Amino acid sequence: MTEMQRNSSTSDDHTGRCYLITGAGSGIGRAVALRVAAAGAGVALADKDFRGASAVASDIVAAGGTAVALKVDISDEAQVQQMILDAVAEFGALHGAFNNAGIAAAGDYAFGTPLTDIEATDFRAMIEVNTTGLFLCLKHELRVMRQAGTSIVNTASAAGLIGMPQGAPYVASKHAAVGLTKAAALEAAPRDVRVNSICPGYTETPMLLANATTTGRQRRVDSTPLGRLGQPEEIAEIAAWLLSPASSFMTGSNIAIDGGLTAGGSTIGAG
Ligand SMILES: NC(=O)c1ccc[n+]([C@@H]2O[C@H](COP(=O)([O-])OP(=O)(O)OC[C@H]3O[C@@H](n4cnc5c(N)ncnc54)[C@H](O)[C@@H]3O)[C@@H](O)[C@H]2O)c1
Repeated sequence: MTEMQRNSSTSDDHTGRCYLITGAGSGIGRAVALRVAAAGAGVALADKDFRGASAVASDIVAAGGTAVALKVDISDEAQVQQMILDAVAEFGALHGAFNNAGIAAAGDYAFGTPLTDIEATDFRAMIEVNTTGLFLCLKHELRVMRQAGTSIVNTASAAGLIGMPQGAPYVASKHAAVGLTKAAALEAAPRDVRVNSICPGYTETPMLLANATTTGRQRRVDSTPLGRLGQPEEIAEIAAWLLSPASSFMTGSNIAIDGGLTAGGSTIGAG
């Protein structure tokens, strides 16, 4: 990227850029897709839930944007490779990726299960998606996305920055996402390819609502210093900025967007 391009960049400068977004059919991925598409980006929307991704793509196209839906299970390497091939075939080149697909429950495990009661199969199932899936996306993206100015953003979590009781598999998988972000950033930096992560706190998405009782939801609100849940659109602002050239001097950073959750105090973790 030239100095002039850097100096003229704003957070809304997505025109002419194309991004791959995983987990784009719902919640935070959907909000980021709508946000960057409205700012001029072409988006390849990948999700295990193809119908969800297709619905978001239809909304973007109806609003005059450019979007294509892809089906992927990020824990399957062949599918990840195909997803990236398909996205490149659609847009010619990718200027960034938002690696966001993830799960909060696996098998019998959900937040609220003591570590001593968690089955190894359920622990592995969570790592398989949240950690191995992210690794596979980074591996194949960094093989093809070699152009200077490329920006990759991973979705880690506040649970990647601090421990939370009764959430061991999720906490472990998201700490790994933070570590993967730092390692990948260092390898890609010589090519001016940037890798950062966002670390959302409790955010009002289908994932959170599916895993929290009414009491659990209120406890999450109470444990957040700003006294409310985050909205996907608030997370999308920071992800969009990290994808854009406006954040050109940032790489290897893991940014909390959490209403103050990780600033101190106590966390509840359990739903
Ligand atoms: N909601 C929160 O409070 C919160 C907080 C911190 C981090 N996160 C993280 O944000 C990301 C998005 O979560 P969300 O809250 O928007 O949840 P969501 O359930 O609304 O969206 C997640 C999307 O990922 C897709 N997905 C799941 N497994 C997949 C796989 N193996 N391959 C491809 N797609 C897959 C789902 O189909 C879904 O569309 C996740 O990584 C999650 O861990 C969420």
